[in-house]
Amino acid sequence: MTLKIQIINGPNLNLLGKREPDIYGHLTLDEIKKEVDNHCQPKKITADFYQSNIEGELVGKIQEISGSVDGLIINAAAFTHTSVAILDALNTLAIPKIEVHISNVFAREEFRHKSMISKSVNGIICGFGLNSYILAVDAIERIIKDENK
Ligand code: DQA
Repeated sequence: MTLKIQIINGPNLNLLGKREPDIYGHLTLDEIKKEVDNHCQPKKITADFYQSNIEGELVGKIQEISGSVDGLIINAAAFTHTSVAILDALNTLAIPKIEVHISNVFAREEFRHKSMISKSVNGIICGFGLNSYILAVDAIERIIKDENK
């Protein structure tokens, strides 16, 4: 069985590689995508990567994938901490969802400790750099397979 997952990335993640590398590392979003693809291939998982700096576009993407993917991994970046619109959109999806962050948000400023979207996801993975995405793929695969047992 091939699993189809969507990976959504929010604002400023297009700047990975040159954006605060001491916090976010040196890999670009494209390089992360390649690593995730390499990880997914032997598992027969196809992962579509999407990035936008615009809140409404992220909401639009979440609406668009309804009924067409098996799971969602989302790094809503700064909108994590502010967006009721993204939370409401996520609440419309009855599929496994995982929130990821590259950095350990709990070791950073207090405003990053609060997530508006966590209420809607199965779990959160943060602080592992690129591996936050890889671990999220493994977690979502397990959740989907367990649900289909
Ligand atoms: C982030 C953490 C957020 O607080 C921040 O606004 C980001 C990236 C992360 O992946 O560590 O843009 O989601």
